[in-house]
Amino acid sequence: MGMLQPNPWVLSLAPYVAGRAKADGVEKVVKLSANESAVGASPKAAEAMVASAVSMHLYPDPDAFDLRRAIAEVHGLAADRIICGAGSDEILHMVAQAFVREGDEIIHSRYGFMMYPIIAQSLGARPVAVPNKNWAADVDGILAAVTDKTRIVYLDNPNNPTGAYLPKAEVERLIAGLPKSCVLVYDAAYAECVDADDYTDGTDLAMAHDNVLMSRTFSKLYGLASLRIGWGYGSPALLDPMNRIRMPFNANLPAQNAAIAAVRDRDFAEKATRFTVQWRQWLSARISALGLEVVPSQTNFVLIRFPQSGDHQAEAANAWLTEHGYLLRWLPGQGLADCLRLTVGTEQENQVVVALLEAFMNR
Ligand SMILES: Cc1ncc(COP(=O)(O)O)c(C=O)c1O
Repeated sequence: MGMLQPNPWVLSLAPYVAGRAKADGVEKVVKLSANESAVGASPKAAEAMVASAVSMHLYPDPDAFDLRRAIAEVHGLAADRIICGAGSDEILHMVAQAFVREGDEIIHSRYGFMMYPIIAQSLGARPVAVPNKNWAADVDGILAAVTDKTRIVYLDNPNNPTGAYLPKAEVERLIAGLPKSCVLVYDAAYAECVDADDYTDGTDLAMAHDNVLMSRTFSKLYGLASLRIGWGYGSPALLDPMNRIRMPFNANLPAQNAAIAAVRDRDFAEKATRFTVQWRQWLSARISALGLEVVPSQTNFVLIRFPQSGDHQAEAANAWLTEHGYLLRWLPGQGLADCLRLTVGTEQENQVVVALLEAFMNR
């Protein structure tokens, strides 16, 4: 009888670190560390979730048919090209499970969603980090990194944690340069927050190209993060293998029902978008006025860059804000030790966090 032997590549990966929700010695915290919605969920989604309680002894629809139909109707898509997941995390993971083998390569931006290298390593693949350009993905850098082992390119557009985005023309240039054997996973988790005219949420790209999978989430603008529900859109060539490995009841019933109500409540979604854009712009302007660099954002958060020396560094700012109950995301693990990521909060939270930053800068 030998010792238990986990896969060596699993032991070498650093697990995902979630945004802080607690701080030692601080009783009441304001969590602006996980890009959750300050507006919350549509009351219709909450109602649908509560109504699901009487059916909780039943398995959910394994194919999430009604949810896929609702998404298809709202977005003008084909329901049979939609796949639902326990958060878009599951979609991002499933596509890799279906297409990536040990020793393959997965490309992502150096500053990008933390799950991409974790997914690669969980499968024994090599994550290849390409430096960003102007905080967004670098199309030429990505194309130069492609080898015959590249199976997936993950592109978070807009990018988390920088908030920057690539215009549609650049994404098209990326697709044109990628081998058809390589999947472009177009992660549009923050698509509903974007107001740039030259952006695409990726539906057109996934319709036009068999090797493009778009992924979306109900966790951000729709405010359903705790329910874990997301979706992907792509060709049968992508979805068929993904559906073969998908767990049968991966999208739970309250999540399916809440998401149906949320996606159909266009008034609420539009209100949430307006709120997010307005306060993101307000935060960016006010924080820039304090002499800090704020990366132009198309998301529900802003990345703030602090001086690299002296009394006003990011780590000290993080400690100061934490002391006052405001939890942001400090990103040393992602090579951004001079940055804090701030999620758009409620009006009052936004006002207080700016006042705290101002007091910090004047110390
Ligand atoms: C870029 C990006 N993609 C995907 C996700 C995963 O979201 P979820 O699994 O909640 O749908 C996140 C969450 O922070 C994200 O920032």
